[in-house]
Amino acid sequence: MLIVQISDLHLAPEGIKTLGVAPMAQNLALCIERINALVPKVDLVMITGDITHDGTLAEAENAARILQALRAPYYVLPGNHDDRNVLWSAFGGAAIPARPDGFLNYVVEAADLRLIAMDSVMTGGNGGQTCDVRLDWLMARLDEAPGVPTAIFMHHPPARMGVVESDLDGFEGAERLGGIIGAHSNVLGLFCGHIHLAAHVQWNGTTVSTAPSMGMQLAPDLTLEKSSQFVLEAPGFQVLLWSKDRGLVTHTSYARNPVGPFDF
Ligand SMILES: [Fe+2]
Ligand SMILES: [Fe+2]
Repeated sequence: MLIVQISDLHLAPEGIKTLGVAPMAQNLALCIERINALVPKVDLVMITGDITHDGTLAEAENAARILQALRAPYYVLPGNHDDRNVLWSAFGGAAIPARPDGFLNYVVEAADLRLIAMDSVMTGGNGGQTCDVRLDWLMARLDEAPGVPTAIFMHHPPARMGVVESDLDGFEGAERLGGIIGAHSNVLGLFCGHIHLAAHVQWNGTTVSTAPSMGMQLAPDLTLEKSSQFVLEAPGFQVLLWSKDRGLVTHTSYARNPVGPFDF
């Protein structure tokens, strides 16, 4: 099975560059072209938040319009730049199948792999959050299928990833979340976005991975003292290759124009 994760689209309204410089609509269209061309065919695409830059319906509708070109079913999660109600208006139904207690939490059964999408947005804040309502929901979902390999998707990584802003913003409820994850050995990994950088860290017996962004890549300050800036880069995405024998393997791919291929 082939799953693609894209994240941090940060779309402006149609015809406008994000923050005046980032051609996010063009970048998304380029990624979709690359994703559609993958062999074997992609089974589904998870979009892990920051669909919009300013949370407006015009931006969400711009995203929905461009995403129509995807030849695989796709699912949407909210990020700190999004408004839950706006995303529900633009994507509620196929791309966001449920909204229990007002949170955009749902499960996708993908053959022998289970995908859990968790809303990690703190209303009015930039940091991550999982409150008791969401964590009770997650625990119930994990307890109903304890033997099934499961991947969890959410916008905010609950671990510190070596990025000064998100490490300082923190993640409310990370401790209880970590306890729940640690108690379920069938959780293969947490697949997040938010930091605009492909990064991986071990956390509570599993791995937290973050996806690159749709072209507004983080230029991290590795001294962890200064705030980070972004650079315009090729948009990137995560390719998740799943089989029961091999496990879940993550490749990071950028929509550059490579030279090749050549034989080793
Ligand atoms: Fe973002
Ligand atoms: Fe974010």
